[in-house]
Amino acid sequence: MKIFHLVTVLLLAYARIASPESCHHQPKSIFILSGQSNMSGRGGVGRVKWDGVVPPECEPSPSILRLGPNLTWEEAKEPLHADIDLNKTLGIGPGMSFAHSVLAQEPSLGPIGLVPCAVGGTNITEWARGGLLYSDMVRRAKAAVKHGGTIRAILWYQGESDTIIEEDALRYKHRLKKFIEEVRCDLKLPTLPFIQVGLATALGPYIDIVRAAQFGVKLPNVKIVDAKGLPLEWDHVHLNTPAEVKLGKMLAHAFLHDF
Ligand SMILES: *[C@@H]1O[C@H](CO)[C@@H](O)[C@H](O)[C@H]1NC(C)=O
Ligand SMILES: *[C@@H]1O[C@H](CO)[C@@H](O)[C@H](O)[C@H]1NC(C)=O
Ligand SMILES: *[C@@H]1O[C@H](CO)[C@@H](O)[C@H](O)[C@H]1NC(C)=O
Ligand SMILES: *[C@@H]1O[C@H](CO)[C@@H](O)[C@H](O)[C@H]1NC(C)=O
Repeated sequence: MKIFHLVTVLLLAYARIASPESCHHQPKSIFILSGQSNMSGRGGVGRVKWDGVVPPECEPSPSILRLGPNLTWEEAKEPLHADIDLNKTLGIGPGMSFAHSVLAQEPSLGPIGLVPCAVGGTNITEWARGGLLYSDMVRRAKAAVKHGGTIRAILWYQGESDTIIEEDALRYKHRLKKFIEEVRCDLKLPTLPFIQVGLATALGPYIDIVRAAQFGVKLPNVKIVDAKGLPLEWDHVHLNTPAEVKLGKMLAHAFLHDF
């Protein structure tokens, strides 16, 4: 009994010496955030710049980290996709609110690591395996778990750019299904939870086809939350800050209760 105890103490001490950084800077539960502008975040973005308003639900916390562009963990703060979704005016997205909401309901999941990968204006063809967006996402996801932690889900808000041409809309279901299967395969997580956001409005006329595709994907562990009815920014295009905060909470609810 005593020897067992001594061994435990020694092992713990060794773990501390061997990885002084990872004690503080390695999250336990990791989430991939991917898709287009509304996942990246445009809440509070005016005609020229972001208003800089960060609601309490999106404030930084020592228990919420993000994987930065150079693949190191840092304390997460808005805009979460800074230096990831390049050359855009960025604002509030759903990620911080999601993380806070998960931690409030399930503190044992912390610290949480967010891996922002969304890029505004991208269609699903550009996200296909073999493309730059896909490779970057998989590379970042693998880097995220290099020193520990577990990828718990992919949060995906995409499809707006596939509502413009009818053929894209018609092919969306097949392309999305393939995307989910390939990401799971490349991350070697065949049952990884995948939570999509159902489109609310879109720039193109074929939104109903894309929505039907989103709701019709029949794969295990794929869930959907619906952005329909959430308020938009002045541009009538992007979700505003309160909408992004609400969406984060909806995603957290889906993650904690739908799987
Ligand atoms: C990585 O990027 C962050 C900012 O995103 C910066 O604070 C940090 O110093 C960078 N680390 C390295 C090793 O370049
Ligand atoms: C962002 O802008 C820089 C400078 O104009 C350009 O070199 C780069 O290709 C742009 N990146 C993207 C992803 O558009
Ligand atoms: C997707 O985006 C790319 C690059 O912007 C564009 O060339 C292409 O026509 C779009 N649609 C499809 C179906 O690839
Ligand atoms: C952002 O999402 C809204 C609501 O779904 C949609 O109307 C809009 O087209 C999206 N914006 C872009 C640029 O994809």
